[in-house]
Amino acid sequence: MAVLLSTKAATMDWWRRALLAVDPGLTIRLFPDAGDPAEIEAAVVWTAHDMAELRRYPNLKLIVSMGAGVDHLLRPPGPPPGIPVARLVDRMLTTQMGEWVLLNVLRFHRQDLDYRALQAAKRWEELPAPVTAETRIGILGLGELGSHAAGLLTRLGFPVMGWTRRPKVVDGVQTFHGADGLAAMAAQSNILVCLLPLTPETRGIVDAALLSRLPKGAFLINGARGGHVVDADLLAALETGQVAAAALDVFQPEPLPADHAYWSHPKVVMTPHAASITIPESAAPQVVENLRRARAGEALMNLVDFSAGY
Ligand code: GLV
Repeated sequence: MAVLLSTKAATMDWWRRALLAVDPGLTIRLFPDAGDPAEIEAAVVWTAHDMAELRRYPNLKLIVSMGAGVDHLLRPPGPPPGIPVARLVDRMLTTQMGEWVLLNVLRFHRQDLDYRALQAAKRWEELPAPVTAETRIGILGLGELGSHAAGLLTRLGFPVMGWTRRPKVVDGVQTFHGADGLAAMAAQSNILVCLLPLTPETRGIVDAALLSRLPKGAFLINGARGGHVVDADLLAALETGQVAAAALDVFQPEPLPADHAYWSHPKVVMTPHAASITIPESAAPQVVENLRRARAGEALMNLVDFSAGY
């Protein structure tokens, strides 16, 4: 039996080596060379893989996302019916995202864009001192990534709030849920951070209505998915100064077309979906363990809940 790997050509062999290091007995096939379709029992795939293609494998027992997000696996036609899907919950992914959020929270809190502009103009000018306890941070999504980022920020002394679909208690975080909670949190968020899974319910959640509720001159940080943000609404809010600046790692589509306004926008700081990149060596043990469990008919780890969409 074999594991099918499907990702960017540049990382395919890296994944193969990482999985073999955990279990040298595995047979690995690199897409599109799947070999005999009847031998494929697990597919470890990233965003470009066509879910319809996975219907070719009659003995498939498990699909694994190579990242934390699974929206790419759930969009139509979705995974073959009855086949479980696991996502990665990985310490290195969580750590990297925490760092990226910190980088951008501190960038905005410490007026870095303004100081860079002053430097470019060779102006020696002191801006008002930022007060940590007065920079309120609202995090959309308190899952693995959101809770970790919240912990880092509370330790630095920022007041941290978090919004989730269903009520949730997280130590040291003031939590909100539902539509009313979203509006209430936004109204107090000097920096709004999006770390939500992309589902039909969260698509376009950062729209004109939400942005207009933020205190004037707030900042937006999106490390989740491009589909969470309505780009025209964000650009309009940047234009009026309602949003002072945005840090964006994710876009729609990716790669972002060269003529998109974000590329050269003075108030947009971009990274190319690089905030948190899967390191195959870190992720491989849970993939191999899940394969063992799938073969043994045991409960899988990090299973995607299809009804929740993540
Ligand atoms: C990256 O975007 C991931 O979902 O891990």
